Amino acid sequence: MVKIAPSILAADFADLGSAIRAADAAGAEYIHVDVMDGNFVPNITVGISVVAAMRRTTRLPLDVHLMIAAPDNYLADFAQAGADILTVHVEACPHLHRTVQQIRELGVRPGVVLNPATALETVREILPYVDQVLIMSVNPGFGGQSYIPTMTAKIARLAAMIAETGRAIEIEVDGGVDVNTTPEIVAAGAGVLVAGTAVFGHPGGVAGGIAALRAAAGNTP
Ligand code: DX5
Ligand code: ZN
Repeated sequence: MVKIAPSILAADFADLGSAIRAADAAGAEYIHVDVMDGNFVPNITVGISVVAAMRRTTRLPLDVHLMIAAPDNYLADFAQAGADILTVHVEACPHLHRTVQQIRELGVRPGVVLNPATALETVREILPYVDQVLIMSVNPGFGGQSYIPTMTAKIARLAAMIAETGRAIEIEVDGGVDVNTTPEIVAAGAGVLVAGTAVFGHPGGVAGGIAALRAAAGNTP
């Protein structure tokens, strides 16, 4: 079954606890946390202390997407705060193998992220070491953007590349995921859907948003 990872970027930051509890109650598999530094991406969101506070609110895995320059400097802090998955951008990591090994040594599941224009080939050599590859289907920095249609073929090519390794690596897709784009994203091979607006902005509330995505993915709760 496809996993749903609600992105708290689209939740009410003044009431994050309620948003997380609602996602948990509605059967979300992960909570996706977008960390932005105003440097790697042109926006600033939340950091280590907010991840620690979220850790006290849910037992769901915290899927922490680091959109920050020089993430190596903060890996131990995010691990200590309670991150279960740490994903780093290949564009921000000149020594990606070392970064991924550090995440693993901290007892956290490592993932790598690709911006829309970054070639898939940049992750080929790191596949033996990661648990997840995140395909950005918008340019990172903001929620509510439109899915870039050419990312569907990229997801399919990644799925084929992962199959060659024989490893169970999750393909996660982030940006513009909604009921319209979900069928092609899942058909291409995605296993984890990140959704902000489609979950927290759904007229039927968080539970309605998650149920709609599951239906679009061809799953029932
Ligand atoms: C964008 C973030 C996404 C964002 C997705 O940089 O990485 O996780 O929250 O938002 P939606 O689902 O609204 O496109
Ligand atoms: Zn994200």
